[in-house]
Amino acid sequence: MLNKKRILEVLPEIRKIRNKEWQKAAIAVWQKAFERSCWKDIMDAPNMTIFGDDPLIRHTRAVTAIAGHIADIEEASQGIKVDRDKLLLITLLHDVDKLTENEPVPGSCTDFQKTESGRYIPHGFLGAFYCREAGLPDDVVEAISSHSFMVKYPAPSIEGVIFNLADLADADIVMYRHGAKLFQERLKNY
Ligand SMILES: [Fe+2]
Repeated sequence: MLNKKRILEVLPEIRKIRNKEWQKAAIAVWQKAFERSCWKDIMDAPNMTIFGDDPLIRHTRAVTAIAGHIADIEEASQGIKVDRDKLLLITLLHDVDKLTENEPVPGSCTDFQKTESGRYIPHGFLGAFYCREAGLPDDVVEAISSHSFMVKYPAPSIEGVIFNLADLADADIVMYRHGAKLFQERLKNY
């Protein structure tokens, strides 16, 4: 069971969502995904199976922070208006389905593999489905369902554009740190 106190402890940015119904929905989505996963604690879940020392929660918080900075800068310099609640929802929930996409290799605490559903359901779809079930706005659901590089249509909103840049920034810094091929390179083949 993942209680509200623990979620807010590891993801305090949820408190920044001003719409209280959406804040409640964000917590419910994390709870639903966690209940269906194998993890004992939320911090055990990795961001990617290949780098087990990089928690999903660290990535989620980094993407949320980067996106917030991009929004601050571009609102001031380009005069655009960013819906901060929607941006928070997208960044905080975009990878929630990784909780059930990844699992430990049996008998190991440090090696991870894709679950069966992680192999067959495209990344982003299950998380988007949970968000839709929780009553979150369509453009938030769409930004999440379309963020995998397997999906070939662009993010539909300014919040989606900012989120995609922030997600790629953190993902590629992790890849660079580990000497792995950058997502920017991989995307050229799609
Ligand atoms: Fe991500």
